[in-house]
Amino acid sequence: MTDAISSSSSSSSSESSRQQRWTAVDGYIAEHLLPADAALDAAVADSVAAGLPPISVTPNQGKLLQLLARMQGARSILELGTLGGYSTIWLARALAPGGRLITLEAEPRYAEIARANIARAGLEELVELRVGPALQTLPELHAEGAGPFDLIFIDADKQNYPGYFEWSLRLSRPGTLIVGDNVVRDGAILDPAAYDSEHGDELIKGVRRFYELAGAEVEEGTVSATAIQTVGAKGYDGFALVLVEGAG
Ligand code: SAH
Ligand code: DHB
Ligand code: MG
Repeated sequence: MTDAISSSSSSSSSESSRQQRWTAVDGYIAEHLLPADAALDAAVADSVAAGLPPISVTPNQGKLLQLLARMQGARSILELGTLGGYSTIWLARALAPGGRLITLEAEPRYAEIARANIARAGLEELVELRVGPALQTLPELHAEGAGPFDLIFIDADKQNYPGYFEWSLRLSRPGTLIVGDNVVRDGAILDPAAYDSEHGDELIKGVRRFYELAGAEVEEGTVSATAIQTVGAKGYDGFALVLVEGAG
C-alpha cells in the first residue's frame, strides 16, 4: 500500500517536475534569444487582468510564428482565433512593408481587449479584426475576394479545424503556409476514448479530421505537410505546417 501511494505520487510529481523543467527551459531560451518587449508583456498582463483564458502561444512560439512569416516574406496574413491579440502582435510585426493582417475572433469581449493590445503595439493600421464565428467570417472574406494569403494561422476552436482547413485552402495560393496550433493535445489525439465517434471529445475529433483532410491533400499532391510535437511552458502539444503546392 505504501508502495502504491509512493509510486503514484512519484509518477505525478515526476510529471510536474517535467513540466517545471519545460517551463524553465522555455525561460532560458527566451532570456537568451527574445529581447524584452513592453507591448507584448502589456498584452499578456492586460489579458490576464481581463480574465481571458491563459492560452496564447508562448513567447518562444510567438517568435517561431514571426520567423515563419518573415521567411515567407508575408505581406498578407490571416489568423483564426485572436484572443487578446498576443500571437497577432508577433505575426503583424513580421509583415513586409505594405502588408496587412486579418484576424478573426468570435468573442466580442476578447476582441475588445485585443484591439487595445494591438493599438498599444502601434499595429492598428496593419491589423483588421473581424468579430464573429470564423465559419461565418471566412466565407464573407472569400466572397469579398480577400486573399490569397501568404500565411494562415489556425488557432480558433479545435472542433472546427476541418472547416478552417478547407477555407484556408480556398484562401491560399501555391506557396501559402498554413500553420495549425494545438494538433497534439498531450497526445490525446491517440486516445480511443477521446476520438470515439459517439462519446469522444469534439476537439480531439476535430483535430483528427484535420489530419485526415490534410493527409488527403498530401495524397493529391496539393500540399506538403508535417506536424511537430512541442513541449514548453504550455505543456505538450504541437504545430502542423502545411505548405500549399501548385494547383494540383
Ligand atoms: N491566437 C491566440 C490564441 C487563440 S485562443 C494567441 O496565441 O494569442 C482561441 C480563440 O479562438 C479564443 O479567443 C476563442 O474565443 C476563439 N474562438 C473560439 N471559437 C471561435 C469561432 N467559432 N470563431 C472564431 N474564433 C473563435
Ligand atoms: C488551449 C490552448 C490553445 O493554444 C488554444 O488555442 C486553445 C486552448 C488549451 O490549452 O486549452
Ligand atoms: Mg492555440
